[in-house]
Amino acid sequence: MNIVKEVVSKFVARFGEMPRVFRAPGRVNLIGEHTDYNGGWVLPAAIDKGIYLACAPSENNFGTWVALDLCGAIQMVGTDFQGQKQPEQTWANYLFGVLAQYAKRGFMIPTLNIVFAGNLPIGAGMSSSAALGAAFAFGLNEIFHLGLNTKELALLVQQAENEYVGIKCGIMDMFTSLNGKTGYALKLDCQTLDFQYVPLELGAFRIVLFNTGVKHALVDSAYNERRAQCESGVAFFRKHFDSELPSLTAAPLSWLQASRSRLDPVVYRRCQYVLEEHLRIQAASKALSDNDLQAFGRLMTATHQGLRDLYEVSCPELDFLVDAVWGHPHVLGARMMGGGFGGCTINLIHQDYVDACYQDITSSYARRFNRTPELYEVVTANGAEELAV
Ligand code: GLA
Repeated sequence: MNIVKEVVSKFVARFGEMPRVFRAPGRVNLIGEHTDYNGGWVLPAAIDKGIYLACAPSENNFGTWVALDLCGAIQMVGTDFQGQKQPEQTWANYLFGVLAQYAKRGFMIPTLNIVFAGNLPIGAGMSSSAALGAAFAFGLNEIFHLGLNTKELALLVQQAENEYVGIKCGIMDMFTSLNGKTGYALKLDCQTLDFQYVPLELGAFRIVLFNTGVKHALVDSAYNERRAQCESGVAFFRKHFDSELPSLTAAPLSWLQASRSRLDPVVYRRCQYVLEEHLRIQAASKALSDNDLQAFGRLMTATHQGLRDLYEVSCPELDFLVDAVWGHPHVLGARMMGGGFGGCTINLIHQDYVDACYQDITSSYARRFNRTPELYEVVTANGAEELAV
């Protein structure tokens, strides 16, 4: 059954009324990794896989939330969200987080019934949690006519994750989920939240994700640690170069090069990666507008090297999948995508070679890691929207 029909029919069967239904997409990120929380550019695109959320106010002082794919259900009791953290059903915390942020802004949302499902793999680095938060925040804004724009909604969803769920993620994922557009990537300045739509004309090349199928335990702690290391880089530059420096990506590479002997070597490597990546994004968006896909692919590959050697957020499974396709004449570029330590690689592969490429890497990956990588071929899509039901 189609996913929209499924969430609607489950909702009607359980609650006896028609809901409103909202879709919010996951994202890929072409280039610009770990630059969002450093005030830099990113170049993501919303994709044709996402979360579908059916919702309506409940008539009781409790609401029931159902996660179809996860076979989970919880009760939302009254509107005291702080007391309702769910250690087991972590997905519910993304929804509570959104309600808590609305409350902070003076919007008290009544109890709600919800059924949701998705066709985004969970934990694969395609932003299923940001899509869930975005679908919910967008839906509430529509149902209750709250008047927030998509920038405000993105900040709300990010704060929900930062403050309620406790993950210090940047803004890229939810911003893309709310603002994506079919046929385009977003060139987003994460410092100002200004963005442009950049046409994504890939000709015969396809965006292909290979999922390592692993998510190493390090993910959240290493992410927060990288953020802290970047912040100590900023503190150093503020002390020695410019006390008003707004973010790490505003520092020129020459400051870093002049500081090698005075900076902690780990902080140096983290800053080097971020500043080089920031330059690469600008070169990559120029390559895209010049339709120079070969140059674009080479930059993606350089990003992987930086993430692996300087930022140190890759892992053997990601490196293996990237190495397996590097240098192949039908592959423009390949790199790990997202926070790191698992999840997917993103590849630009000629349409005629996708199947053969997948077969090749499947057998070698299985020999080495004893598991099969999943393949997702994705296309760009619009950001969050209400669906007619
Ligand atoms: C995760 C975070 C994003 C971003 C990426 C790395 O996906 O949620 O905010 O920092 O990692 O680019």
